[in-house]
Amino acid sequence: MTTGAGVSENAANIGVVGLAVMGSNLARNLASREGNTVAVYNRSRAKTDELVAEHPEAGFVPAFSYEEFAASLQKPRTAIIMVKAGGPTDAVIDSLLEVFEPGDIIVDGGNALFTDTIRREKAVRETGVNFVGMGVSGGEEGALLGPSLMPGGSDESWVTLGPILRSIAAVAEGEPCVTHVGHDGAGHFVKMVHNGIEYADMQLIAEAYDLIRRGTGKSPAEIAEVFAEWNRGELESYLIEITAEVLRQVDGETGKPLVDVILDQAGAKGTGAWTVQTALSLGVPVSGIAEATFARSLSSHPEQREISRDLPGPNEGFTADDADAFIEQVRLALYASKIVAYSQGFDEIRAGAAEYGWNIDLGKIAAIWRGGCIIRARFLNRITDAYVETPDLSVLLTAPFFVDVFTRAQDAWREVVATSAKVGIPAPAFSSSLAYYDGLRAERLPAALIQGQRDFFGAHTYKRIDKPGTFHTLWSADRSEIEAEDTH
Ligand SMILES: NC(=O)c1ccc[n+]([C@@H]2O[C@H](COP(=O)([O-])OP(=O)(O)OC[C@H]3O[C@@H](n4cnc5c(N)ncnc54)[C@H](OP(=O)(O)O)[C@@H]3O)[C@@H](O)[C@H]2O)c1
Repeated sequence: MTTGAGVSENAANIGVVGLAVMGSNLARNLASREGNTVAVYNRSRAKTDELVAEHPEAGFVPAFSYEEFAASLQKPRTAIIMVKAGGPTDAVIDSLLEVFEPGDIIVDGGNALFTDTIRREKAVRETGVNFVGMGVSGGEEGALLGPSLMPGGSDESWVTLGPILRSIAAVAEGEPCVTHVGHDGAGHFVKMVHNGIEYADMQLIAEAYDLIRRGTGKSPAEIAEVFAEWNRGELESYLIEITAEVLRQVDGETGKPLVDVILDQAGAKGTGAWTVQTALSLGVPVSGIAEATFARSLSSHPEQREISRDLPGPNEGFTADDADAFIEQVRLALYASKIVAYSQGFDEIRAGAAEYGWNIDLGKIAAIWRGGCIIRARFLNRITDAYVETPDLSVLLTAPFFVDVFTRAQDAWREVVATSAKVGIPAPAFSSSLAYYDGLRAERLPAALIQGQRDFFGAHTYKRIDKPGTFHTLWSADRSEIEAEDTH
């Protein structure tokens, strides 16, 4: 093996391009698995030198040009790109296409927008090279120790990639957290929705914390214990676990709880917004994810918050009569709202699969999210069970296990939402989830009135409950009803 002066021909069975934190951790993970030899390349040489020097145990095959990189790989060549999403990904693909041959495989593990992946897959396929868009979840630690992997792409690529990806993925209950999600952009689509659900889950936890803090006067450290306790029960999940850690943390400089010195303006890298934008195009109501995304936006407008501070609100402060009972109500409200968020996310995946022609096994998606990723949670097993029992289940939250949860939780959920509205504590994800739940349950919705209004001002027509056909009322004439062409 050579290091830099020349190149070891065909020495590696897999390569990584882009050696920032994600790429270098994924390369180390690959190298640590039996049978893998990993070629590494980065646009600027320093990162390659540093990685190779710091991890001699990995036996990396460094390359300093795309030609060297291609020469160092066994055929069919397989390269995972971990660079900035967008233009940089296109630049790397173009460079690889100059040195790769038909049958080789390019995997984009960055956070690409799924429509970019569909476009890239189509363009790359024309060259005979396979292109796989792959969602990678779990952040830096996941990349190093075992991520949840959501590859799309062709069946042919999966034959080569499957064993490699299985070897590096997280393992949950004995199963690697990777599956061939579907063709072209399916993997990045599912990763996008994963991130949307993550936004909702985080917002719901934040609302639970806020209600408990303001309703019971408990300190962040005390609330950390509440979350630690919740993590031993049905809410057990990575996000609940790290919430306890964050709330327990004391600021070294001021001695205050860290959460009290962190600026209350939440950032976002855009995948929540993609999830919501896509859901709007598909006509799927992901209201919990949308509220979570908008809540981050609201928090990040300090000027608007400043001039709005004196708007009238309820006069009295809020103290729960029975702190323990209130905390239990909040726990149940959190669980119920969380089920709604996941149910909405799975709806979006099903709608995306129908729109783009992907055959996605929803139960398997829940299964590969049980390990390695940010939304890993005990109750994902119940989602897998629900889809195994009823593969064409059209509303996840109607599965018997979840109906049992709602039976237990709904009174508390309503109480918490009503209390938050009454005392003026914003709980947008709790309340919109409940409204969605009641919307689904409703025997009649006021959509009938909306259809009447649409017909009044735009002759958009309506259907009747008592006979087939499409109708229009002659609103500006004698208001009689006529049969009409469907102009929905
Ligand atoms: N961070 C996470 O938790 C996480 C989780 C899942 C997925 N991802 C995704 O994984 C990818 C990598 O993330 P990251 O945080 O490790 O790195 P990053 O900061 O997103 O990207 C830095 C890497 O991109 C390379 N790069 C930038 N422009 C380039 C260009 N025009 N041509 C070639 N290479 C270029 C850089 O090379 P130089 O060193 O030469 O500048 C460097 O290797 C991203 O798509 C990210 O969205 C990140």
